[in-house]
Parts: sequence; structure tokens; C-alpha cells
Amino acid sequence: MDPERKDRRPRSVAIIMDGNGRWALRRGMERIRGHVRGASRVREILAAALESGVEYLTLFAFSTENSKRSEEEVAALMGLLRKYIRSETPRLVEAGIRIRFIGNRSRLDPRLQTLTRWIESQTAHNRKLNVTVALYYGARDELTRAARKIAKAARAGDLEPDAITEDVLADNLDTAGLPDPDLVIRTSGEIRISNFLLWQSAYAEFVFVKTEWPDFTAEQFRRILDVYAARDRRFGRVSGASG
Ligand code: IPE
Ligand code: IPE
Ligand code: MG
Repeated sequence: MDPERKDRRPRSVAIIMDGNGRWALRRGMERIRGHVRGASRVREILAAALESGVEYLTLFAFSTENSKRSEEEVAALMGLLRKYIRSETPRLVEAGIRIRFIGNRSRLDPRLQTLTRWIESQTAHNRKLNVTVALYYGARDELTRAARKIAKAARAGDLEPDAITEDVLADNLDTAGLPDPDLVIRTSGEIRISNFLLWQSAYAEFVFVKTEWPDFTAEQFRRILDVYAARDRRFGRVSGASG
């Protein structure tokens, strides 16, 4: 890669980790086996993100709408998450990885709520890589909750409606303080957003790959960063223009 391109690394990457169920079904296994294998891919991708100089990584782990799946699948996913947090926390602390969660935490069971707070506090001082896990997350739900918070502030007289700017809205989202994704990756061949980071990805670059999440590798992640580096981001302006 030429040196100029090398600097065009995304600072913030978000991944829609999709295709676990199909991966398992194609092998004659239950969907849950796909989730188990999918969870085991995360460690390698975190390491690849760290090595590549990515500063922020957001992982879509469970959507608001995923709660409509069978009770068995939802319970298995939540169980996996608990297990993952318990077993990975020491490694994450050591690797300098900070973990945060976005989404409607009140919908998590109380034990998991406690665990998510715990891992956030255990890793709060880490700076090498900021990982945000989207759990019970839906962008429409996030925007609705933000609207509610803003309306309450306005009613209380703490905020003039005319003072509501894009920044005020962004500051009331779950992602307040986090940079917007430069790059959004979706695995499994589906070409849609599925209610992920609607506001934040307004100017993100999108890369869709056919690989199902359980087969996604660090090598593929690095190749996608190269694809990103070759993109021309214009933000509504004209290519090459300085102002
Ligand atoms: C992604 O894989 C993980 C979650 C949504 C929790 P899926 O479970 O959506 O797998 P497919 O898309 O059905 O193959
Ligand atoms: C999006 O995938 C959510 C996650 C990857 C966690 P889905 O599998 O839920 O999305 P749809 O249903 O295919 O749109
Ligand atoms: Mg899916």
C-alpha cells in the first residue's frame, strides 16, 4: 500500500456480526452452535483491530428486535455473553481494552446488568482500544429514548427548544462522547442496516461481505481496512477540494 493510503485507516469501525444461525444450520447443527462459534471469533478480531490502529470498535451483538426470537435462543445468547464477560475480562484488562455497552440496558436481566457495569468499571482506565458492545440495541429505540430525554429537559425549563442542535441530539444518544463509525462492516451477505447506528453512520463507508461471522478472520478484517483506504469520502463536498 502506498504511504499516503496507509494513513487512511479508519479510527472507528462498527461490525454487524451476522450469519451465526445460517452457519450452524448449513452444517446440520442448531443455531446456538453458530453463536458459540461466533463468540469465539471476537478475540481474534479485537486483536486485529488493536494491531491495525483502530481506536474504536463497535460490535452489534443483540438487537432490540432479536428479543422476538425464541426464548431458548435469547437465553442461550445471554448465557454466552455472561460466560464471555466472566472469562475474557482479565485478558481484556491486560490488553488495554476498554469495554462499554450501548442499548436499552433495562431490558437485560439484573445479573447481566450487574456484569456489564462490572466489566465497564474494570476496564474504564484502558486506552488502547475502545470496544462498544451493542446489546438490546436498536437505533430507533435509541433515538426515541433520546427524544424523551430532550423533551423532559425542555419541559423542566433546562433546555430551550431552539437550542436543540445536532450536538444536543448526539449527546443524548447512547453513543454520547464516542466518535461516529468511519466504516461499517456487515458479514453474511445481507445488504441492510437492520436498525444499527442510523444517526451515527450517516457518513460511514459500508462494506458487506458474504462470509458468515463464525468464519470471519483477522485477514479478512485487514483486507476490508484496505478497501476502506481506497474509498473517496466526500461528505457532500467535491473530491480533492480543500474547502
Ligand atoms: C447474528 O447471527 C447474531 C445475532 C443476531 C444475535 P444470526 O443469529 O442473525 O444468524 P443468521 O443471520 O440467522 O444466520
Ligand atoms: C442484526 O442482524 C443484528 C445483529 C447482528 C446482532 P439480524 O440477523 O437481527 O438482522 P436481520 O433480521 O437479518 O435484518
Ligand atoms: Mg441474522
